[in-house]
Amino acid sequence: MQRKFLIASGLTLLGTAGAAPALSAELTISCGAVGAELTLCEQGVEAWENETGHDVEIVSTPNSSTERLSLYQQILSARSGDIDVLQIDVVWPGLLANHLIDLEETLGEDAAEGHFETIVANNTVDDRLVAMPWFTDAGVLYYRKDLLEKHAVAPPETWQQLTDIAVEIQAAEREAGNDKLWGYVFQGRAYEGLTCNALEWVASHGGGTLVDADGEITIDNENAATALDLAASWIGEITPRGALNYTEEEARGIFQSGNAVFMRNWPYAWSLAQSEDSEVAGKVGVVKLPHGPNGESAATLGGWNLAVSKYSENPELAADLVAYLTGEAEQKRRAIEAAYNPTLTSLYADEEVLEAVPFFGTLYDTFTNAVARPSAATGDNYGRVSNAFFNAAHGVLTDEQDGADAVAELDSELSRIKRRRW
Ligand code: GLC
Repeated sequence: MQRKFLIASGLTLLGTAGAAPALSAELTISCGAVGAELTLCEQGVEAWENETGHDVEIVSTPNSSTERLSLYQQILSARSGDIDVLQIDVVWPGLLANHLIDLEETLGEDAAEGHFETIVANNTVDDRLVAMPWFTDAGVLYYRKDLLEKHAVAPPETWQQLTDIAVEIQAAEREAGNDKLWGYVFQGRAYEGLTCNALEWVASHGGGTLVDADGEITIDNENAATALDLAASWIGEITPRGALNYTEEEARGIFQSGNAVFMRNWPYAWSLAQSEDSEVAGKVGVVKLPHGPNGESAATLGGWNLAVSKYSENPELAADLVAYLTGEAEQKRRAIEAAYNPTLTSLYADEEVLEAVPFFGTLYDTFTNAVARPSAATGDNYGRVSNAFFNAAHGVLTDEQDGADAVAELDSELSRIKRRRW
C-alpha cells in the first residue's frame, strides 16, 4: 500500500515519506483525513490487499467537503482515471452520477441490502446505484458533563438554554482562572460544514430546509431570520471569533483541549474526545441538538459513500474493494474504533458497537430522522445552492447583514439559480 496526497489545482500526485511512484498499484482510492479517517481507511484497504493479493494506493484529499468536491469535479471532468474509488459526500450523487458506474451491475441487484433505505435511495440516480453507503452522519451536541454537573445544570433542550448556560459557565470558570474557556464551538467557516450547522439552526426554529422536497424555495421567513440572528449573537460572546474559520477539526481541537463547554460536531469526535491523550476523556456527554421556540431539534444528515469512477481501468476490482470496505466487518470495526455510524441497520443492535458508542443507541432516532440538505431537489445545482446559503449565513455571523436581509437576498439569489433549471 502506498499513500499520497492529492493537491487541488490539477491532477498532481505528490509522493510522501519516500513512497515509490504509483506504477505498481492496480487501484487508487481517495479517502478523507478528518480525525482518524485516513488510518481507518489504510487498515481496511490493507486487509483487502492481504485477502486478495492486490495492490492499492491511497490518496488523501482536502478535509473541507467543498474543496474536495471541486477537486473531484476537476478530475472527473477531465475524464481522468487517476482515482478508481472515490469517497463521496451524501450530497453529491446527483452532482457526480454521470461520472460513476452503476454498482448494481457489478455487485448484483442486492448489493445494498441491509443498508438504510433512505441512503440507498439517495445514492440511486436514474435507477443506477452510483455509490455504496459507507457511514452516515448527523450533527450532535457534545457537552462537558463535569462542568454542567459542577454548575448544577442539565444539558440544554433549547438554543436559548444553551446560550444561557454557556454564558454562565464561561463567566464563572473564567473568573476562577480558566481564562481560555469558551461556551460554544461549531463549524463557522464559509464551506459545506456551515451549510450543515445553519440548516440545523433554521430547521430547529421551524424555518424549513431552504428548499423543500418539491424544489420550492422556502428560506425567506421569520423563523429562519431569527435562527441566523441568534447564531450571530454568539460570536465574540460565547463563541470565539476564530470560529468564523473553523471546520470540524478546529472545533474538535478547542473542545478536546478542554476549552469549550459545548461543541456541535459529528459522531467521529466521540472516540477522539475519549482517547488517552484527550484532556476531556471521561468528561463528555452527547445529546441531540437544541431547538428554537417554534421548532424541534434537527440534525443535518451527513455521511460518505464509496463510488467507482467511470474512467477506472479496473472497475470490477474497484467495485470489489468498495463491497469489502462497506461490508459488515469493516463497518463494525470503524464504529467500534472510531465512532463512524454504520449504514447497516443490524449494527445498531450489536452489543459491542453500542458499548463503544452508547449514543448510537440513545440517539438512534436522531440518526434515522436527520434532516437532508436539499441536494435531491436541486440536482446538479446543489453546489451553487449550498454556496449561496453558507455565504449568506457567514455574512450574518460576521455582522455584514441581519438575518432578515440575508434570507430575503438569499431568496432572490436562489430564484436566479433555479431559473437556470433545477
Ligand atoms: C461531514 C458530513 C458531510 C458534510 C461535511 C461538512 O463530513 O458527513 O456530509 O458535508 O461534514 O463539513
